Amino acid sequence: MNRELLETTIRATSSDAIARNLHVFDTIPSTNQTLWELLAQGAEPGTIVIAQTQTSGRGQWGRQWVSPVGGLYLSQAIAPKLPVSHSFHLTLATAWGIASQFRNCGIPVGIKWPNDLVINNRKLGGILTETKIQQGKITKAVVGVGINWANPVPETGINLQSWQTESGLVSIDSLEMLVVITLRGIHSGWQRYKNEGVNDLLPAYLELLTSMGQKLTINHNSGIVVGVTPTGELRVQNSERSPSNSQTTPEEIYCPPGTISLGYNKSSD
Ligand code: BTN
Repeated sequence: MNRELLETTIRATSSDAIARNLHVFDTIPSTNQTLWELLAQGAEPGTIVIAQTQTSGRGQWGRQWVSPVGGLYLSQAIAPKLPVSHSFHLTLATAWGIASQFRNCGIPVGIKWPNDLVINNRKLGGILTETKIQQGKITKAVVGVGINWANPVPETGINLQSWQTESGLVSIDSLEMLVVITLRGIHSGWQRYKNEGVNDLLPAYLELLTSMGQKLTINHNSGIVVGVTPTGELRVQNSERSPSNSQTTPEEIYCPPGTISLGYNKSSD
């Protein structure tokens, strides 16, 4: 599909607020980067950037996000006015919001800690939230979402079009519809967080967390994932603890995002 058609269709199927703030490009380095440039030129919170391909898509932990035609590459600006210590709440709200919108369409999307979107333990998409901080407050944030729609994916990935064909459930029938559902997800997650707070949202996020109960090894200690703290650390129950070492061995280990990877199975069919 060409860029004009994509843009026209999104505008025709979206609210006025989306249509007013929408920028659609053929190829740019990164939708997050372009959105930061637009914000520096005075663009408002709510501004959306979409690209058909990215040449330097940014992934988590400094990785590249390979972005061929057929995928969804979208960024939206928000003005959170949150303390820096709450930055994980942006991730929580967005991941929960998007996964829930998919589930409302009958697509069983889960969340792999901290913010991968998964189906059957294969990566469907990822979220990269970048922030600007002034005087200890997050004044601006760019929420960047990449979702595999019809693009080729690695062995550990899955694209939505193939999943729908294989499962016989086609509830999202175009890239434009995927855009609308993703934006609805960002909006609903952020609204729920603003209205109800983290104590309401965290249990909802945990319900969708596929990592719950996963066994793993940290520093030669085995443990089981039992949750996530409100600041985003993975809570791992220490299986090495026993009555004889309980004084010296903690009951739980807390892993900040980026310090461990939960990995993907290559043969999860
Ligand atoms: C991850 O590593 O899981 C997060 C990937 C986020 C990729 C998206 S694609 C749209 C937006 N623009 C970027 O450069 N990155 C994000």
